[in-house]
Parts: sequence; C-alpha cells; structure tokens
Amino acid sequence: MTRIVERPSEWRDERRAQIRAGLTLGFVPTMGALHEGHLSLVRRSRAENDRTLVSIFVNPTQFEDTSDLARYPRTVQEDVAMLRAEGVEFVLVPHERDLYPDGFRYRATEVQDARVLEGACRPGHFDGVLTVVLKLLQLAAAERAYFGEKDWQQLTLVQGLVDAFFLPTVIVACPTVREPDGLALSSRNQRLSPSDRLKAPQLYRVLSTAPSPDVAAGTLREAGFVVDYVEDREGRRLGAVRLGGIRLIDNVARDDRR
Ligand code: PAJ
Repeated sequence: MTRIVERPSEWRDERRAQIRAGLTLGFVPTMGALHEGHLSLVRRSRAENDRTLVSIFVNPTQFEDTSDLARYPRTVQEDVAMLRAEGVEFVLVPHERDLYPDGFRYRATEVQDARVLEGACRPGHFDGVLTVVLKLLQLAAAERAYFGEKDWQQLTLVQGLVDAFFLPTVIVACPTVREPDGLALSSRNQRLSPSDRLKAPQLYRVLSTAPSPDVAAGTLREAGFVVDYVEDREGRRLGAVRLGGIRLIDNVARDDRR
C-alpha cells in the first residue's frame, strides 16, 4: 500500500508512530518526472530500510530561470504509479505554502563551493537546493537519505550541510544510471532533438577519455556543444554543456578514464 501524504503535520504524526514501533526510514527527495535513475535510489532505500518515503516537489527556489521552472515536467500521477509498482510505502507531495511558511526568508547558504561550477552558471541555485533539502531532511526524520552521484556538486554540498548542522540523517551516495550508450538519465533528455540525442553521449565519452579538461572542452565544442565548463576537482571531472538549448551535466571519477 502506497500512502500519499500532503501535510507536514500528517507526516510528522506518521513518522512518530514509526519511531515508536522501531521502524527505520529511508528518504528519497525528488522533483518528480521519475526515471530509472530515481528508481535506483528508491530500490536502494527499500533494501536498506523498513520503510521508504519519496518526496515529489518541484522546488521553485532552486530555479533561477522562471521559464525553466515553468517547463519542468509535472507527472505526479505517473510518478505515484511507478512508486506504487516499486512498493514504496509513502509519497510526500507537499504544497509550496506548507514547505515555505517563511516565504523563503530563511535560507541555508554555502559561501564557497556553491559559487563555482553549477553555482557560477546558476546564481542562487544551491541556496534553493540546500534550503529545501534542510527542510525536507528535518521533516522526513529518516535514518538515511539517498542522493545521486549524477548531481555530484549537489551531493557534496548536501553532505557538507549535514556535517555543518549536525543533522542525524546519513547521506547515501548512489552511482549514476546511464543509457546503454552512456548518456546519464535525466528528465531533460526527452527534450533533445533526435540528432542531438545521438550526439549527447559524447559528453560522457569525452569527459571519461580526454587527457585534460581543456582538451575535453575543445573536443566538445568541435562536436557542436556549447560548453559551460569542464573542470577537474578532487579526483572528479565535472562538465556542463548545452545542446540545442538543453542543458546537460555529467561527471566521472578521474581514475575511470580509459
Ligand atoms: P531530481 O533532479 O528529481 O533528482 C532527485 C535525485 O535523483 C537526486 O539525488 C539526483 O542526483 C538523482 N538522480 C537523477 N538522475 C540520476 C541518474 N541518472 N542516476 C542516479 N541518480 C540520479 O536533484 C533534485 O531533484 C533536487 O535538487 C532535490 C535534491 C530533490 C531538491 O529539490
């Protein structure tokens, strides 16, 4: 049985009862438009906890571009059907007014690593991410929360948030799920034109094989990508590109390189 919960107070009552019964909880925060990447997090949570909570909330504060927010796919019915098929016990679908009773006056801000890479291209983005993740982690009160390595910078900033504020939830990092041709799964992939879809896997291939970030960026530009950045940081190579106006990000471990 999958129960849909809208109100934070309703979830808090449910979680209190679970804790009294000694049940562990895994939490998977999402913005919906679910695909196999999200489902890999859900399956990991199901395997490691007595109960799983998935949240679906298209968080407006992390979109610096209002047209990007308006275009974000909203497929709650299909998402809930997929979660039901996975055996997820709880789906939290909060209303904006309930998650932001303060109207986003209170924020979680990281002033160093949130300003580079994605943060440099999308000013304010990580304020929105970290604030909503702080709210959701506090509300969920889970033992473990599951995040994808696909969004590497987000994952490291969330881990930093948990450390900085002594949050009791353990952050579990999950590997990037890819199409057979290497393209990282993303809700944005559906918006690629057929010819751009054929080109898109080069992002992963070039990040994995180029001898340096500069060579990677050059190769991608020659192939027709607009390159926002390619950088090596702490054993990871991260890249962001645009293809026909669709933004794609990916990252690989440096020792993954072939
Ligand atoms: P969303 O883009 O819906 O992603 C939810 C989670 O799924 C994130 O942890 C993301 O890294 C993971 N994910 C997405 N694609 C993946 C893939 N191909 N392989 C593995 N994991 C993948 O990230 C967000 O939502 C939001 O910023 C959120 C954390 C929910 C805050 O609003």
